[in-house]
Amino acid sequence: MTKNTTATLVEMKLRGEKISQLTCYDYTTARLVDAAGINTVLVGDSLGMTMQGYDTTLPVTLDEMIIYGRSVVRGCKNAFVIMDMPFMSYQASAEQALLSAGRLIKETGANAVKLEGGAAVCEQIKAITNAGIPVCAHIGMTPQSVNAFGGFKVQGKGEENARRVLDDALAVQEAGAFMVVLECVPPKLAALITKKVKMITIGIGAGAGCDGQVLVYQDMLGMTDGGAPKFVKCFSEIGKAMTEAFSAYDKAVKSGSFPAEENTYAKSDCPEEFLASLDKEYSDEE
Ligand code: KIV
Repeated sequence: MTKNTTATLVEMKLRGEKISQLTCYDYTTARLVDAAGINTVLVGDSLGMTMQGYDTTLPVTLDEMIIYGRSVVRGCKNAFVIMDMPFMSYQASAEQALLSAGRLIKETGANAVKLEGGAAVCEQIKAITNAGIPVCAHIGMTPQSVNAFGGFKVQGKGEENARRVLDDALAVQEAGAFMVVLECVPPKLAALITKKVKMITIGIGAGAGCDGQVLVYQDMLGMTDGGAPKFVKCFSEIGKAMTEAFSAYDKAVKSGSFPAEENTYAKSDCPEEFLASLDKEYSDEE
């Protein structure tokens, strides 16, 4: 397997090969995802929900992203690592965006940053790409705007909204984005956008017509509490398997069947006579 780069990913698009992306937030999972040959890993601010238990991504800070991102980068040999820019780390100005993106790349070793918004964040995208940092944009349903949307809802429904999503895609491409996430966009619109742009489109809830797909890894492993969104496919019931394993451990500890002799360092034990003398010595001291 070779290291994925912006160049190899663009070549994949040109050859019509699909690009795989998963979210990831820790070293162990990153190693497994990387070993599976996933092309790109997103350290998403969805970690606010999946790792920290918040209802939205809004509370996540830049410092927190850096801690999670460093661990992921250490686990990825070949996957291209993208760091999400958390809420209010880039919205204020192009300068703020550049400084935040610089920290994310410098302090984690990741390969690119992602930020949410279309035409409204083009100045930010220009500033970051001018500094040599690849940018993945994110349009359609952008979770950091959940309060403005009034919930996590499909975007681009109806002619006016569809035109706005396409215009956003063209705007972020013009500003320098090499990749765009299309979230919760109707499939025919997502396919049209993919045809109209040179940058890579990664869909989540946007149908099969995108250049690639991303999912939150806990969703595709059945690890989320409560229902996953309609666009999620559970590829393996790992959440259930984990609960069963935890429960088997609980029973084994409580029944005394764990640890068994093979789980101990019995061969390194002291001779029985010495332990008996220790026992006596210490009970005499009481
Ligand atoms: O934060 C995230 O995980 C994301 C993906 C869902 C695209 O933005």
